[in-house]
Amino acid sequence: MAAKVDVILGAQWGDEGKGKVVDVVAPDYAVIARFQGGPNAGHTLIFDGKKHVLHTIPSGVFREGIWNLVGNGVVIDPVVFLREVKSLDDAGVDVRPRLLISRRAHLILPTHRALDAASEADKGQGKIGSTLKGIGPTYMDKTGRNGLRIGDIERPDFMERYRALVAKHERLFGIHDHQVDWRANEAEWLQAVETLRSFQLVDSEQWLNERLAAGDRVMAEGAQGTLLDIDFGTYPFVTSSNTISAGACTGLGIGPSRIGRVIGIFKAYCTRVGSGPFPTELHDAQGEALRKAGNEFGATTGRPRRCGWLDLPALRFAVMVNGITELAMMKADVLSGMGSVRVCTAYRIDGKETPNFPYELSEGLQPCYTELEGWGAINPGEALPAALEHYIAFIEKAVGVPVCLVSTGPDRTATIMRGPEVATR
Ligand code: GDP
Ligand code: IMO
Ligand code: MG
Repeated sequence: MAAKVDVILGAQWGDEGKGKVVDVVAPDYAVIARFQGGPNAGHTLIFDGKKHVLHTIPSGVFREGIWNLVGNGVVIDPVVFLREVKSLDDAGVDVRPRLLISRRAHLILPTHRALDAASEADKGQGKIGSTLKGIGPTYMDKTGRNGLRIGDIERPDFMERYRALVAKHERLFGIHDHQVDWRANEAEWLQAVETLRSFQLVDSEQWLNERLAAGDRVMAEGAQGTLLDIDFGTYPFVTSSNTISAGACTGLGIGPSRIGRVIGIFKAYCTRVGSGPFPTELHDAQGEALRKAGNEFGATTGRPRRCGWLDLPALRFAVMVNGITELAMMKADVLSGMGSVRVCTAYRIDGKETPNFPYELSEGLQPCYTELEGWGAINPGEALPAALEHYIAFIEKAVGVPVCLVSTGPDRTATIMRGPEVATR
């Protein structure tokens, strides 16, 4: 019988710990496949006392005998990609034999990065807080039917196509107030494209469906998070792709009937990096304490992450739009030692309480909190503290799906499976 594709995705504003969970469960899968986003992602893996941050390459690369696929929904900057390959090489991992790249994935050009910067500068105070990796302009060219795809680098007329797109971008620079010099990066980029040709470029939708037909289990690895989704996130403060489970279908070329489990990753609290509404944000010493305890600084940009309490209307919304079947709760250890913790259970909008996540998070929206008992240290090998179990049960009841994994530290080993395992052989 054909195997299923399980999906791991972010249920908040990104940086939930997706990379860690993918690395933990990867040995149970034959293929790990990224389906959207690009070098705006930063997925951190920690094991054997070493830290690795992945941007474009799937988080299965450190496990032996697994295929890693960069799907058609991903946007690739060849320079960033090769830097990543080099750092894996330095760590003793040769990715080439086990890494496949979709011919349909789009290329991020140096001019896309410059357009990203120019667009942000033009927005001034209203800027998105983009990672400046060129993500938005690349997806704009994809939907505008101007983009260059990985498959194009195999064509004899690639340079003509490249020059034509750059010429279009040069005309666009004219409409921006801010000019960004991109030519300095062109030679390195063209060199990287040359090297990229030697990687395994494939018709990945065909390859993946053949694997599934042969019974191989596939894990789709999401980037960013539900509240950054282009359709369902806090628009316009979002990324430019569908980060939700449906994105796994379009970003890999698989039908919805192929999707098995949908595992939503969330932190025991909330963070956000970049601009945009964040109802439970803490602007005080408690927020600062969370940032410090959780080491909340961006894996890609190093920016401090905004911190706040867990937001259940938002999590319930993520469960709904993704069809999440189970949750993984990360960073439970970061809240250890707080006398009490708060959870937002509903929003008050114009004097009315609602458990739902509205179309827009307006200025006047007030989070309604419940205070729960805090917990102390989480000791390896021991049962979870009773107050933490209670916190988890409270969340499960509020959102209607089980928490099947609890992460108690950044290391691969600091992971507790509860109830039905996230992955079963
Ligand atoms: P991703 O983008 O969703 O893969 O997440 P990031 O890697 O950007 O951010 C998650 C951060 O939290 C990384 O620094 C991880 O090493 C760290 N982390 C993951 N799980 C835990 C946990 O349970 N406890 C603590 N303290 N840190 C964790
Ligand atoms: P991972 O996969 C957290 C945010 C940016 C900005 C907005 C748009 O590590 O969870 P973009 O560069 O995509 O145009 O930026 O989205 N953002 C992320 N925040 N984690 C990420 O990825 C993010 N990728 C983009 O900060 O607010
Ligand atoms: Mg990240």
